[in-house]
Amino acid sequence: MDFDVLNALLRPRSVAVIGASNTPGKIGYLAAKNLIESDYAGHVYPINPKGDEVLGVRAYPSVLDVPGEIDAAMVVVPAKFVPQVVEACGKKGVRGLIVVASGFSEIGLRDLEEEVVQIAHTYNMGLLGPNIVGVMSNSHHCNASFAPFMPLPGRAAMISQSGALLIAMTVASYTRHVGFDKMISVGNMADVNFADLVSWLDQDDNIACITLYVEGFQNGRRFIEVARRASKPIVALKAGVSAHGAAAAASHTGSMAGSGKVYDAALQQAGVVRASGLNNLFDRTLALSLQPPMLGDNLMVISNGGGVGVLATDAAEYYGIPLRFAPPDLQAELQASVPDFGSVKNPADLTGMGGWPEYLETVRHALRHPWVHGVVVLFCETQRNDPMDIARAIKRAVDESGVTDKPVIVSFIGGEKVETAMQWLVENGLPTYGAPDVAVDAIAALREYARNCMSAMETIVPYQDVDETVARAIIAEARAKKSGALTEFEAKQVFAAYGLPVARTELARTEDEAVALAAQIGYPVVLKILSPDILHKSDAGGVKVNLQDETEVRDAYRAILANAAAYKADAYIEGVLVQEMAPLGTEVILGSVNDSTFGPTMMFGLGGIFVEILKDVTFRVAPISSDQAMKMLVDIKGAPLLAGARGESPRDRVALAEVVSRYSQMIMALGDEIAESDANPVLVYVEGKGVKIVDARIILSA
Ligand code: COA
Repeated sequence: MDFDVLNALLRPRSVAVIGASNTPGKIGYLAAKNLIESDYAGHVYPINPKGDEVLGVRAYPSVLDVPGEIDAAMVVVPAKFVPQVVEACGKKGVRGLIVVASGFSEIGLRDLEEEVVQIAHTYNMGLLGPNIVGVMSNSHHCNASFAPFMPLPGRAAMISQSGALLIAMTVASYTRHVGFDKMISVGNMADVNFADLVSWLDQDDNIACITLYVEGFQNGRRFIEVARRASKPIVALKAGVSAHGAAAAASHTGSMAGSGKVYDAALQQAGVVRASGLNNLFDRTLALSLQPPMLGDNLMVISNGGGVGVLATDAAEYYGIPLRFAPPDLQAELQASVPDFGSVKNPADLTGMGGWPEYLETVRHALRHPWVHGVVVLFCETQRNDPMDIARAIKRAVDESGVTDKPVIVSFIGGEKVETAMQWLVENGLPTYGAPDVAVDAIAALREYARNCMSAMETIVPYQDVDETVARAIIAEARAKKSGALTEFEAKQVFAAYGLPVARTELARTEDEAVALAAQIGYPVVLKILSPDILHKSDAGGVKVNLQDETEVRDAYRAILANAAAYKADAYIEGVLVQEMAPLGTEVILGSVNDSTFGPTMMFGLGGIFVEILKDVTFRVAPISSDQAMKMLVDIKGAPLLAGARGESPRDRVALAEVVSRYSQMIMALGDEIAESDANPVLVYVEGKGVKIVDARIILSA
């Protein structure tokens, strides 16, 4: 989206309110009032068929009658009038449309919505909405919305897909002391979307953190690209799980992808910090908008009580930054301000004796020490101390330390005085929370952000020894046979074209051919029926394993054909596959879906009951590097089985990660052809012995 258009929407120099009204309570009244009775420095043009004036400001019957230029137009007329209004805006040269009106795709009127976007695009306008509250910008004193309040000023920007929630959040920003420079309602996202807004906000100096309430992305892949490039933290609350997939799934992977796990993966790959709920969204926004990322794992906790220290310690482990003992030299430095019956290890416990001078000293020492990457300061209200003194000491310690690249998060527990001190701390740039675990979660968000920045820098170098032409030729042949899925034989050939280690498999059309192929492959072998009409080969008696010699192959060949005939007399039999008998190994499954939001997406999990019953699987949007694949291998609960649990040798995770990465390259390159696929089972051997794909399935896109 053109930045000129986004400038017009988010930093308009003039706004027309189409549907501005003098009738109190009407949305057109509220919208006009918000702009007219505020410090907004731009021009406001009320548009009303009666002309005359609205709230004391001259009104015009149409935007075409306005003498000056109009950057943005708020559209607050019933949906059926919106096309003609948008047409007039186009003729007038308006750049951005803020379409507040409801009554479009959200009630099934998709055509009307498309018509409006079409008109907007004809005139190079961008359209925010429809079905939105509007846009608020504190730095421009511009409330182009019908929300009664602007949010508490601050350095975050909120983009919300829910209008009601956005209005509630403007108010909640005051009670929660989380400041926002902008709040943007995106509604149906018929045109301007999350990715457009994130890229614009990323270059806005007033913004330090981008906060999202997301129900769904339209073009998820573009969002991932924009978010990965963003130089500011993005924190998202994702509501709902993707509803597609599960019902229509033809493969294992498909049935598992509908669980929201694809969104989890995509947001992680986009480098987005997640929030677990609305409170957490505010808490994490506060930390990310005020403090720098935490660049290492060494968290120092300072408290005046054992209880809160233990709670913080538990939370640190839970949130993935377990506390380590402070190094001896730091312990020695801290000793000066900690009583003998306290502790200098980590948490540093100043005990109830700790007053503001002790807080000042310990926080300053901790921040200056190179071992420390971030500090959480906890304070329990005591009779000995005024919370405001402690607050001032913490702020002074931070300032005097001269350290600006390590986050400091505070938690105060107590009554009214504590509330006042907490607010003062937030106003002075130190995120402060009412419970130690919440403070630790906030610093964990800053750690997560730093880790995300690192992984966002990873690049993916595609494998060169692949043959897309061969893969496409096999698919084209299958399509020519009007087949919606590849046979196992064909699927394995496609896999092999991408360097995937498939168990050697050949097609025999006669018994003698089967014998000859078995000799070539080497005993023992497996024989499998190959028929597009028999998908469940084992159920049909179509699989014979561990065949040791020619006689067993001949017997198996005849038995398989007889079983197939009994199972489905009219089944078309292409032949019998003769396959190398892969030795036993740890069973895993790889798979893919072509997700409607994010496109080709990889799945990995342990095979057998782990996938069937426990659904212990993890997803990534393709393509992924083998380093990223390595992270998938540790994502699942069954990871210890690959690492070598209970005295077993570790499995060849390096080879497996390469296979996952190659697989992701394949589904990406063939994304237009492959709807779903899986390799199941895949056998993983001990380190150095590699991986074998035993069975393969590819379902073609419609
Ligand atoms: N140009 C300019 N003004 C026009 C117009 C036009 N083409 N057509 C109508 N108007 C005027 C009306 O005369 C009226 O002004 P008045 O009060 O002086 O008579 C004003 O625009 C509003 O029109 P009205 O017909 O009274 O509509 P309304 O105020 O009842 O409802 C909406 C309009 C847009 C608010 C309503 O249709 C709607 O969509 N409501 C939901 C909005 C919402 O909640 N969005 C956020 C969801 S999270």
